[in-house]
Amino acid sequence: MGSDLVLRQDLEAGIVRLVFNRPDKLNALSTPMIRALESHLDTLAKEPAVRVVILGGAGDRAFVAGADIAEYRGHRPAAFIAYQLESRRVFDKLEALPKPVIASIRGYALGGGFEIALTADVIVCAMSARLGLPEGLLGLSPGGGGTQRLTRAVGRVVASDMLLAARRISGERAFQLGLAAEVVPDDKLEEATLARARAMLQVAPLAQAEMKRLLREGIEAPLATARSLEQEVLFRLYGSRDAEEGIAAFLDKRSANFRGE
Ligand code: COA
Repeated sequence: MGSDLVLRQDLEAGIVRLVFNRPDKLNALSTPMIRALESHLDTLAKEPAVRVVILGGAGDRAFVAGADIAEYRGHRPAAFIAYQLESRRVFDKLEALPKPVIASIRGYALGGGFEIALTADVIVCAMSARLGLPEGLLGLSPGGGGTQRLTRAVGRVVASDMLLAARRISGERAFQLGLAAEVVPDDKLEEATLARARAMLQVAPLAQAEMKRLLREGIEAPLATARSLEQEVLFRLYGSRDAEEGIAAFLDKRSANFRGE
């Protein structure tokens, strides 16, 4: 099912890259592409050997330049709504994947492309990265979580400045704002992204999955509730085989062999 629209590349043990692959349209997200993404996510979720997922775009011009605007013309409202609901479900599924996701951005990450990046745990930008939510230029507003996830990431004032003027920001600016963990020259993007993925392989997978969920649920909750969630997670992890192994490995001065149990 349109599987070449999102390519899976098994880069090295534990690390998979999904590549949005429609470079002639700047990887604009068509409906078949969203379905291809979902099908990869469903498979990856069932593969414990895959520990880190990297998202990238084919070609050197774009990560993803947004929803496929060509599909919007002539859509009946019901079809437009169906597309938006489907994207929302798939973006939420991406965000909930219980393993770290890194968005590795070169060129345009606009609209739905930026929204996908905002579901990722970590963003790494090339200098050429251009991020924004330009839906207002089409007379629309974002529907894939952009207004809400951007605001939670950078605050309402910066988000308003970007949304109300359809302002694109550079990779460097994204780094200054704390949106991107790193900004690197374009020819160093793969290397920098892989270095982050490899570092993630060192951390226990159960702990990663729990912390990932905690970060997202905690930010929505009052502090006292979030603190209780935090401790519940820790108490659960303390009883895990991986915690026993991690503590023993430290004390034995050897590297830990985590199994995700
Ligand atoms: N949907 C559909 N097609 C898109 C697209 C999108 N979101 N973004 C780019 N494309 C297509 C262009 O139509 C063009 O196709 P063509 O060669 O068949 O004419 C091709 O990708 C290259 O884009 P082009 O606009 O020629 O490149 P550019 O360098 O002049 O401009 C952008 C690049 C990203 C600034 C411009 O393409 C753009 O504004 N895209 C739309 C961004 C957007 O509004 N996203 C949110 C959608 S809700």
